[in-house]
Amino acid sequence: MRKWNFSAGPAAIPEQVLKETQSELLEWNNSGMSIMEMSHRSSEYMQVASTARQDLIDLLGIPENYQVLFLQGGATLQFSMIPMNFASQQPADYLLTGSWSKKAIAEASQITTTNIVASSEASNFNHVPDVDYWSESPGAPYLHYVANETIQGNALHQAPATQAPLIADMSSVILSEPIDVSKFSMIYAGAQKNIGPAGLTICIIKDEFLSTASDALPGMLQYSKHAESDSMFNTPPTFSWYLAGKVFSWLKTNGGLEAMAKVNHSKAKRLYEFIDASDFYSNPVISANRSIMNVPFLLRDSEMDAQFLDDAHHAGLLNLKGHRSIGGMRASIYNATPLAAIDALIGFMSEFEIKNG
Ligand SMILES: Cc1ncc(COP(=O)(O)O)c(C=O)c1O
Repeated sequence: MRKWNFSAGPAAIPEQVLKETQSELLEWNNSGMSIMEMSHRSSEYMQVASTARQDLIDLLGIPENYQVLFLQGGATLQFSMIPMNFASQQPADYLLTGSWSKKAIAEASQITTTNIVASSEASNFNHVPDVDYWSESPGAPYLHYVANETIQGNALHQAPATQAPLIADMSSVILSEPIDVSKFSMIYAGAQKNIGPAGLTICIIKDEFLSTASDALPGMLQYSKHAESDSMFNTPPTFSWYLAGKVFSWLKTNGGLEAMAKVNHSKAKRLYEFIDASDFYSNPVISANRSIMNVPFLLRDSEMDAQFLDDAHHAGLLNLKGHRSIGGMRASIYNATPLAAIDALIGFMSEFEIKNG
């Protein structure tokens, strides 16, 4: 029996998408084969791939002067590909707001010099430093930030106005609400949270910015090569791409990103309000920077963590353990997690508090 899954990633996928996939698994659309067994260059597969791309463009309102790439290597490869393609003589600017920005900086530092425009590390990443206090370096080739820190559960809800071309890691927040893509030179996201199965990475890159990318790299590492070949420079992750397409079409039929935003904001609001009203549970992030996708919380007494997780599991609430680096709990509440799951979680938390508080 399927249960409520609060995993940070790979994460819950809409049940309807899984059922549809199941029904097509042995034979896709009278083709005599599974989609997994089909050449990526066949006309049937090309149609699936381009419909998925177009649906993503429609959902996010991606302007025409952007390339939309379906790549591999996860968001982690982007941490390296970005400086490889776009670093210059000047330091690249990075905002440090949590574990993933820290990793991005560590990887970039292997390739170029970096300037940290601001950091909230001294306060355990409980906020995102105000853009008015960032110290950008003159002539930086780009400014990179993580729009939603999956582990710490903080987020910058507005695209910051920066001097340098803006790059956002949106792995854990893409498609959760509408965004203005035109404010960014590049957006990227690993698929395994709000898009579909692992193995696929989406990159959205403005043409003008792409034209500054290096061509002195192996082909597989050049964004322009992927763009020129419609993301088929080599065999793409065909099954993940197909399934992502199903998620995009599920989003479209369920009202698109406006509708998702409404539900996502009410899910997060309900959970944060419950946590704030209790003195048994707490969340350390300042309210303006709270993530609407990943909600970490601590129990008053961490000795009860194991019991909480065990009881939650028995109650059909899965994967609530916080990231190993910060402990406590974390509920990841992406698009495929409905309001009913939040209500079940709150009901459980409240009972656990009465029993053990
Ligand atoms: C914000 C963010 N960036 C990067 C990553 C790394 O992604 P991947 O494992 O796909 O390389 C993650 C993974 O959880 C993430 O949440």
